[in-house]
Amino acid sequence: MKKVIEAKHLSFGYDNKLILENINFSIDKGDYLGIIGSNGSGKSTLIKLLLATLKPSGGEIKILGERIDKFRRWDKIGYVSQKANSFNTSFPATVEEVVAANLYSRVGLFRRPGKEHRKQVDNALELVGMREYKSRLIGELSGGQQQRVFIARVLVSQPEIMFLDEPTVGIDAKSEEAVYCMLARLNKELGITIVLISHDTSAITVHANKIACMGNKGLIIHDPKEKMTEEFITELYGYGVNLHAHRHDCRNCIRKEVV
Ligand SMILES: Nc1ncnc2c1ncn2[C@@H]1O[C@H](COP(=O)(O)OP(=O)(O)OP(=O)(O)O)[C@@H](O)[C@H]1O
Ligand SMILES: [Mg+2]
Repeated sequence: MKKVIEAKHLSFGYDNKLILENINFSIDKGDYLGIIGSNGSGKSTLIKLLLATLKPSGGEIKILGERIDKFRRWDKIGYVSQKANSFNTSFPATVEEVVAANLYSRVGLFRRPGKEHRKQVDNALELVGMREYKSRLIGELSGGQQQRVFIARVLVSQPEIMFLDEPTVGIDAKSEEAVYCMLARLNKELGITIVLISHDTSAITVHANKIACMGNKGLIIHDPKEKMTEEFITELYGYGVNLHAHRHDCRNCIRKEVV
């Protein structure tokens, strides 16, 4: 199994306050890793380290087999941030333009995207079920639809790994379900490695093939089929979660309810 991410003895602190201490894990190609943990446990910080927006205080990270400080193929890495839905949606851009903007680094800022680029944009929108909305203004869409467009914006550069930091914050349960099902399809059908932070332990248990639990400056990787009982999570975090909170029986899902 090809490792796409490896972290060894990884430590990080803000202003000398240690947040992550001696973390070791790897992610294989085609994995769907769900990251859970209470507020402030370092989930977003970990993703920022894996995206090289933060520098580790100790240890090393390899991405697609290369040391992160030497890594240059960032177009292969997609990122949907925790704040994606605070994107200025009053900007008068169409869905097509928002997605195409992520191709500008290749197209060149002042050149119009050609036929081939427009086809790539169409394909990305098709994957998230938003192709028919391509001429609509981004500000006219619902939160869930906007979030799908932001995912298409990442998909257009054909990433090998997608990082998503709470991509469903602020959208209703039905749209949330649709986003999770769509990510599962991208993972299974296109083989895209997914790294998803979510507080929705139920959705993570259903869709992810690995779960990273963060807390006490550490990270433990689990198989969702084992151990992820309500008692286990309550013991780990000191708070209860309801794994039956949502039903995941949408027909697009590959895996059905397992808890
Ligand atoms: N730029 C920063 N400067 C100083 N401390 C920070 C900074 N960003 C985050 N922290 C602190 O680091 C810790 C981890 O933050 P992080 O954002 O990674 O948590 P999280 O697990 O993503 O939380 P949440 O579930 O609320 O998103 C928190 O205690 C936070 O206050
Ligand atoms: Mg966070």
